[in-house]
Amino acid sequence: MFSVIKKGFTTVRLFASVHTIVQNNYTIIVLLHHYCVTYDNVCKSNALRYYYHASGLNWTMGDTTLGSRVFALSDLHVDYKENRKLLDGWPDKKYSNDVLVVAGDVTDNMTLLETTLKGLQLKFRQVFFVPGNHELWMRSDDKSTDSIGKFHAILALCARLGVGTSPTRVSLSAGDHVWLVPLFSWYATPEEDPDNSFYVRPSAGEDEARQRDIWMDNHMCVWPTPTDGQTRADYFADLNRSAVERSYDAPVVSFSHFVPRRELIGASDADRAAVDRERARRGLAPFTGTHQGAAGFNFTRYAGSYQLEQQVSWLQPTVHVFGHQHRNRDRVIAGVRYVAHCLGSPNDQRDGWTWGVSEWDGPKQVWPQKT
Ligand SMILES: [Fe+2]
Ligand SMILES: [Fe+2]
Repeated sequence: MFSVIKKGFTTVRLFASVHTIVQNNYTIIVLLHHYCVTYDNVCKSNALRYYYHASGLNWTMGDTTLGSRVFALSDLHVDYKENRKLLDGWPDKKYSNDVLVVAGDVTDNMTLLETTLKGLQLKFRQVFFVPGNHELWMRSDDKSTDSIGKFHAILALCARLGVGTSPTRVSLSAGDHVWLVPLFSWYATPEEDPDNSFYVRPSAGEDEARQRDIWMDNHMCVWPTPTDGQTRADYFADLNRSAVERSYDAPVVSFSHFVPRRELIGASDADRAAVDRERARRGLAPFTGTHQGAAGFNFTRYAGSYQLEQQVSWLQPTVHVFGHQHRNRDRVIAGVRYVAHCLGSPNDQRDGWTWGVSEWDGPKQVWPQKT
């Protein structure tokens, strides 16, 4: 430590440090100058973290490979200031050896997306991400011409930041490894592809025009003219082909934004009990309704696709993380543990749908597995 400057309640620390990085059998000695601004005299070592992320280097210091865990989170929806405050309040050091999987729906605002991903990179050793439907909403300040263009602009942003968007073997403690495998996806509507859609037609029928009107993707996304009858679900599934056809030499934790199995749309008894625990914690009565969604809205239209379900079953991950429905899940089906740990909107949190975020006081650990 070379100097400390006190300015009001803020402490600015200036210092330099030497770090040893081991990469491909070469040892690199790095002298880094740091500065950080804190209210609690705890240095965040931002410069060092940026250096590691920008370099794509393994997070090793000296001879010690740091142990790590994998955490899951989705639907951060940081356009809500309450959610930004929640994320900002998560500790800076608790996850510094850990990996975070973000399963989509951070924001449609590219600037805010970049700020949020960078903020998470300061808290976690590595961050992985798949875009959700909200990221592909077109805003007047977007430089892309359509939602597919914006999707690729987001992947380019992630590449620039060092956020993972392709299969990656992550080193854990004691020589263990886990593969993190992102699966891009979109839902199949009954109009686009009835055989691929999770759609369940209500016995009383429904006002289809209204269903389309109240779903914001239908107003906010812009799609290029499809070629050869390719649906949106087809387009994104094709991007996963090499990831699902290859083999992996360690357990797999995969993740998608959209719902990977139709039975996960409905709540199980355990899900209902978890919702009621969260509601009780918030001083609310148990949920007595039968439908965990907006009255009259048929989410099965926009939930996921059988194509995604098939890709997950080919992959056979140990854990699959997903998001999108703002109804948290933790269920084993056909040998795969499916985890949805959404932050959702402040209303979703208040109503108990996104149970677990309070209990975990943040993202949920999915590797090593811990319930
Ligand atoms: Fe969402
Ligand atoms: Fe979503």
